[in-house]
Amino acid sequence: MNCRYYIPMLNLVGRGSVSEIGKEARILHGTKAFVVASEGDVGEAQAKQVADILAAEGLSAHLFCEAVPNPTVSVVEKGAVRYRDSACDIIVTVGGGSAIDTAKGIGLLATNGGNIADYDGTNKSRHAMPPFIAISTTAGTGSEVTQFAVITNEDDHMKFTIVDWHLTPNVSVNDPEMMLSMPSALTAATGMDALTHAVEAYVSKGATPVTDAKAYKAVELIGRSLREAVKDGSDIDARENMCYASFLAGTAFNNAGLGLTHAMSHPLGGKYNLPHGLCNALLLPHVVKYNMDRASGRYSELAVAVGAGKGWHTERENCESFIRFVINLGREIEIPDGLSEAGVKSKDLEALAEEAAEEAIGAPNPRPYTAQQVLDVYKAAF
Ligand SMILES: [Fe+2]
Repeated sequence: MNCRYYIPMLNLVGRGSVSEIGKEARILHGTKAFVVASEGDVGEAQAKQVADILAAEGLSAHLFCEAVPNPTVSVVEKGAVRYRDSACDIIVTVGGGSAIDTAKGIGLLATNGGNIADYDGTNKSRHAMPPFIAISTTAGTGSEVTQFAVITNEDDHMKFTIVDWHLTPNVSVNDPEMMLSMPSALTAATGMDALTHAVEAYVSKGATPVTDAKAYKAVELIGRSLREAVKDGSDIDARENMCYASFLAGTAFNNAGLGLTHAMSHPLGGKYNLPHGLCNALLLPHVVKYNMDRASGRYSELAVAVGAGKGWHTERENCESFIRFVINLGREIEIPDGLSEAGVKSKDLEALAEEAAEEAIGAPNPRPYTAQQVLDVYKAAF
């Protein structure tokens, strides 16, 4: 089994690590940073905090606080124009997956030109991005360590995934002190996204011993700390564990790939603008059930990792325990009970299933599927 392993050159995890970005930006020869953050008060405050840290090391900054949830083609293209006009020489992004994916799109266009949809697919760019530092403020997305960006075309609400080695940040930052004020619902949804990354990477057809080690530990940490991080956002130990979990899960799926849960959650997020992590949380237990016969040994190991399974139980018993663990965890952190409660309409399921069945992101799923089988999983999750 061969292993091909992508990861940022430098990865900073732990409390206070964001304070090091000025020094790292200078090592990357940055003098003026294009700071990408989400629109609104929180994004603006985060961007200013980053600009202050950079200023202490002598860098100036141009702030672009316009990233939106489920990042759109138009915001990415607007940001790319602003980047060129502002004469910046490094990109620093701070926020969740939306801000980071927006920054990735801007960086790709900055050095490669064209339209962002031109890069839909795998390794379509020819030139490296400007130096790039990604600071995650939600423990879940993993985007700060990955070579993926998911962009939504607002004309047809369809998402497309850019897979490109050039998208990998030079530096990733996961600092729990940046996450202390994250609302509980966002902590819950992004934490379930991290769990889904780890679980899908662990059962993926692309898994290797390297990704297994990361994914397994991520699941264990999430089992131990997500409830606490949601219950008490100021619990810095739980937040730090979630930082490590998110980082580990991100590096795992960046190399092992994902599966059917993500293939099904992308069309949902695109159509209803639902949070990505919430879609995954609603779908994951049903996808585990669908995959169970093809990956029972792997799910059984994860059940043991979270303390839900026992070494002396059968694989099937442990799989069922793992499904119950995911459902109960979702309930405890107040994830809605099903897709209908989240606002999904049953009349849309058939079209969603057709779309999900075509999503390339589901290719490493351990069990193949047809659109009809995907529809059955949507119905089970409804
Ligand atoms: Fe995800």
